[in-house]
Amino acid sequence: MAKMTRVAKQLTPDDWAALRADITEAFSPGSPVQERDLFSGRASQIASLEDAVNQRGKHGIVFGERGVGKTSLANVLPLVLRRPNRELIYVRVNCDPLDTFASLWKKVFKRMSYVADTLSGPVTKKISEDFGADLTPDDVQLVLSEFDGTHIPIIVLDEFDVIQSKLTTQLVANTIKALSDYSVNATVIIVGVAEDISNLVAGHESITRCLIQVKMPRMSTEELKQLVLTRYNRCGIATDANAVWKMIFLSRGLPYYTHSLAMYAARYAIDNKRLNVAHEDVDKALDGAIAELDQTIKEKYVMAVRSQRAEDTLYAPVLLACAFAATDELGRFQQTAVAAPLNKILPGKNYVASTFALHMNAFTEEDRGRVLQRTGTPRNYRYRFSDPMMQPYVILKGLREGRLTDEIAEIFSTRPQLEISFPTA
Ligand SMILES: Nc1ncnc2c1ncn2[C@@H]1O[C@H](COP(=O)(O)OP(=O)(O)OP(=O)(O)O)[C@@H](O)[C@H]1O
Ligand SMILES: [Mg+2]
Repeated sequence: MAKMTRVAKQLTPDDWAALRADITEAFSPGSPVQERDLFSGRASQIASLEDAVNQRGKHGIVFGERGVGKTSLANVLPLVLRRPNRELIYVRVNCDPLDTFASLWKKVFKRMSYVADTLSGPVTKKISEDFGADLTPDDVQLVLSEFDGTHIPIIVLDEFDVIQSKLTTQLVANTIKALSDYSVNATVIIVGVAEDISNLVAGHESITRCLIQVKMPRMSTEELKQLVLTRYNRCGIATDANAVWKMIFLSRGLPYYTHSLAMYAARYAIDNKRLNVAHEDVDKALDGAIAELDQTIKEKYVMAVRSQRAEDTLYAPVLLACAFAATDELGRFQQTAVAAPLNKILPGKNYVASTFALHMNAFTEEDRGRVLQRTGTPRNYRYRFSDPMMQPYVILKGLREGRLTDEIAEIFSTRPQLEISFPTA
C-alpha cells in the first residue's frame, strides 16, 4: 500500500470532500475488520488459529472480553492462510440465544453447497437441503468427513456465548470430540465473550486436548498505533506522537474507541483544511465519539452516577477513578486502587477506601445499573466494569465535562516511547 502524498494548498473542495469520505471509509468503529491490510497486530493469535487449521484433530476456541476484536480475527483467518492447490471453504455463522444443535448446524449447512449428479445433469445443492428438522452430531460428523485433503473446511461458530441451552453447547463439544477422534479434515472454531473456556462450553473438559485456546487480550499500544497509522497513511494524513498517544490512552485497549477517535480527529483536521492530525484534534473528536456510542451505555452511565442528594455527588468522580484503577490481567481492581486516582481527581480531601465503600457497593446494584461487577470475598473484593465499553466512556465523559484534565489523566499511565514513522509500501 503506497503512501499517498497530498499537499493541502493544492487541494480543491472536491478533493477535501473525497478525502473526508476516504477517512470515514477507512475506519470501521461499527463493524469487524474485513481486510487483511487493515487488520492490526495479533500475530500470535493468528498463528494459533493457523495451527488449529493445519493440524488434523485440532479445533479452535477464541475468547475474550466484548469488543476486543474476536470476530475480526476470525474474518482475517481465511485471508492469511497460504495453502496453494487447496480449496478453502470458510463459513462463519452467528449463534442465536435460542439455537438448538440442529438449528445451528442447519445455518452452517445452508452456507455450504455441493454439486450433485442428477438425471438432468449436475445440480448445485445446499447441504442443508439433505436434512429435515433433525440433525444430529453424527450427521455433522458424516457431512464433514466428506471433505478430502484438497479442501480446507473451516466453520466458525461466532457469538457462542449467547446460546442459552447447555444441551446445545454440550452437543457441540461432543461433535468436536468426535471430529477429532476420527481425524476429520475440518476445523471448527468457537468464538465468544468469556473469561475462560469453561464459561463458554458445557462439557469443555472432554475437548480441552483437541482445542487450541486463543485468548484475545485488549489491544496493545503498538497494535493500536498501527491501526491508526495504516489508515492515516492510506489516506495521506500525517500525525504525531502526542495525538496518537491520546487516542490510544483513551481507548483502554478497546479498538472500537481508537477507530472512533482517530476518525473524528482526522475529520476535524480535514474540515479545517489540514492534512495533519494534532493533539487538539483528538480533543475535538470527543464529542463525535461520544455521540456515536450505543445509547444504552450513555443511559447506564446516567443511571450509575445520578445524584439525588448533595452528598451523592461523589458517584461520578468515584466511577471515574474506577476507570483509572490499576487492574489485573482480567481487568479487575480492588477498592484500595481507586483511592489514588480519586485523590488526584478531587485533590485535598484525602479519601480512603472506606469513605467511598458505599458508592462502590451501589455500583454493583440494580439501582445503579450494575455498572460494576464484584467477585471474591468481603475481605478481598475485586471489581470490574460489567461492560468493558463503559470504561473508556467514563474517561471521555470526565474530560468532556471538565472533571478531568489531560495532566491528571496521564499521570496514571507511563507513556511509552511512540515511534511515529509511517509504514512503507
Ligand atoms: N486487529 C484489529 N485491527 C484493527 N481494528 C480492529 C482489530 N480488531 C478489531 N478491530 C475493530 O474493533 C472493533 C471491534 O471488533 P470486533 O467486532 O471484531 O470485536 P469482537 O470481539 O468480535 O466484539 P463482540 O464481542 O462485540 O462480538 C471493530 O470496530 C473492529 O473494526
Ligand atoms: Mg464479534
